[in-house]
Amino acid sequence: MVKFLTLLAFCCFQLAYPQQPLYKQAEIPIEKRIKDLLKRMTVEEKILQLNQYKLGANTNINNIGAASNEIPAGIGSLIYFGGDPEFRNQIQKKAVEESRLGIPILFGYDIIHGCRTLYPIPLAQACSWNLDLVKTNSSMSAKETVLSGVDWVFSPMIDVSRDPRWGRVAEGYGEDPYVNAVFGVATIQGYQGTSLSDPYSVAACLKHYVGYGMSEGGRDYRYSNISKQSLWETYLPSFEAGINAGAATVMSSFNDISGIPATSNYYTLTEILKKRWKHDGFVVSDWNAIEQLINQGVAQDKKEAGMKAFLAGVEMDMIDNIYLEHFKELLAEKKISIQSIDEAVTRILRVKFRLGLFENPYTTIIEKEKRYLQPESIKNAAKLAEESIVLLKNENNILPISPLLKKIALVGPMAKDKQNLMGSWSGYAKSADVETIFSGMEKEFSNKAQLNYAKGCDFDGDDESGFEEAIKVANQSDIIVVCLGERRVWSGENASRSTLSLPIIQEKLVEELKKTGKPIVLILSNGRPIELERLEKFSDAILEIWQPGVAGGTPVAGIVSGRINPSAKLAITFPLVTGQIPTYYNMRPSAREAKLGAYQDKPTEPLYWFGHGLSYTTYKYSEATLSSPRIKPSEKLTVQVKVTNTGDVSGKESVLWYISDPVSSISRPLKELKFFEKKEIPAGNEVVYTFEIDPNRDLAYYDEEGHKILEPGIFYVHVDDQKIKFELLK
Ligand code: BGC
Repeated sequence: MVKFLTLLAFCCFQLAYPQQPLYKQAEIPIEKRIKDLLKRMTVEEKILQLNQYKLGANTNINNIGAASNEIPAGIGSLIYFGGDPEFRNQIQKKAVEESRLGIPILFGYDIIHGCRTLYPIPLAQACSWNLDLVKTNSSMSAKETVLSGVDWVFSPMIDVSRDPRWGRVAEGYGEDPYVNAVFGVATIQGYQGTSLSDPYSVAACLKHYVGYGMSEGGRDYRYSNISKQSLWETYLPSFEAGINAGAATVMSSFNDISGIPATSNYYTLTEILKKRWKHDGFVVSDWNAIEQLINQGVAQDKKEAGMKAFLAGVEMDMIDNIYLEHFKELLAEKKISIQSIDEAVTRILRVKFRLGLFENPYTTIIEKEKRYLQPESIKNAAKLAEESIVLLKNENNILPISPLLKKIALVGPMAKDKQNLMGSWSGYAKSADVETIFSGMEKEFSNKAQLNYAKGCDFDGDDESGFEEAIKVANQSDIIVVCLGERRVWSGENASRSTLSLPIIQEKLVEELKKTGKPIVLILSNGRPIELERLEKFSDAILEIWQPGVAGGTPVAGIVSGRINPSAKLAITFPLVTGQIPTYYNMRPSAREAKLGAYQDKPTEPLYWFGHGLSYTTYKYSEATLSSPRIKPSEKLTVQVKVTNTGDVSGKESVLWYISDPVSSISRPLKELKFFEKKEIPAGNEVVYTFEIDPNRDLAYYDEEGHKILEPGIFYVHVDDQKIKFELLK
């Protein structure tokens, strides 16, 4: 009976839509639709699907080349720089209505930390320890992205990096594998929603796969020497988490991994990603990366480069046109097979079907005013900025500024700057929308204190002519707020620096201001940790605001005035001097006690460790308690700590839980972050934080073949400055 009814329904459908091929019927399962479509495609049509062209003006100065005018209707994907949904629809019409099979184009773009409403840079987001907020903001960013005509974002970047000379530390979530994993997952969940086919979902792209953050010497696009052990324990975990969270696509990276470029690396792209992790979306190469295999010394020409990338597992060629130009020839020579082309096309079509592009290929056009910068997203952008600003130093509680101090000198090149507060990769954001620190302070302190402004100097150069005015306004004021930092182009792609210190002119300005004897609050906006060896000595308070995006000066002023209590903690260590690099909290133990083997000329300890961040209130941690002193591998252990807000203002405290394993077959890091939680604690109140230890997840570790090892023995759980022992039984 059921079968009969199904047949009847099918026949009715066929009668209603007689010409509709199977692949165009939304109710048919995706895999069947793909098979049907593949059967109808010519080899040329299949090869076109494997290519990505660019469309519109390219604003990434690192990627040279004129925008493509001639877009073949059957192209697989476009990098769409335009942000104009009407133009996208025109191009899409070509594909859907003028190509033989009507396969929609997938429009991708670099929406990294916000589309038009710009959020703080990802490194700053990680310092908020607020996964819910990051997820909410990513979903708001997805909505603006969809309305701009983009279906696919090249984000999140989850490259662990322990070398802040590398400019791209700004784009990721810092030095820790777990932090990169969980912030990556929150971002994917925000972008992709509950289903990729939801009207405001975009497909995520995990990048850069893999090990790019290890780029030698912090120089970009370089060689990376990564042992298999560190590949598995440091660089792969964030990607594994992203795949498990359902990330639709992956981008291969520019670096090579101990001699095998990531773009032609069969082990990482196929063995691990596709065979072990069962990723069924597709891999896109990075910009020009297939051709670059020639520079990297593994291919003699473009044809060989294309063959190597494809055989390793890169399904889509980003802007190189190599697949387009050479695949027919490679097929004829039997160097690649039609089966592998079918497999690659299947993966790309799968993402298009999942996004619902066959049913809804066009962007809905709504009024420009309703597309972007909606009150809710502006509010959330400000919240995230508030929670990502780190109070690094606050001697004598100089912050928040006392209401008794009526004259504030606001000095420095960042004070009235909009552009640089945006950070790198600013999507379709406009600097006009960014609030400066000056205007944020003006609003915050209106009728409360007088602001005396002087620029003092530029970000670099040696022009000291503005010092005099700066010293004058400082002398006329009760306190000096000096706003320094990096230009936005000093971090991000192709923006490595040999030193983490700010240009001498900025340091000199503070040195001169210090001579006035007035207290100094240093506000820093930058895309990487800064070397503060000298500046720290001149400053009574230091506020790291990173690159906060559109909210700019509003949250900064709120923290300076005390309206907002800072709650961020560093997701990356600040070395004291550049020469300490690499320095990160989860190092392996040394052979001799710490004072041996240390630097003789400088301290070996960094200035501010991962996890450092002050508040305007104080927290007291109770003695942590374990549910049991020993567990079996199949059991779970609960550890709890009570945190009391012992100060006068409400605060948000992030409790970070670490594990250490002092004896194991492969030496383990001194401690490893396994869980964190951020909760609001009103003044005078206490809140209990709980971490449930799951031995297979939290105590096991990878060996160099990627097998998880769980060894019985003594472990410690660390919270605050406590270290609590427990035993894992056999
Ligand atoms: C960058 C990627 C980016 C791509 C497309 C490359 O140069 O490395 O992160 O997604 O360009 O713009």
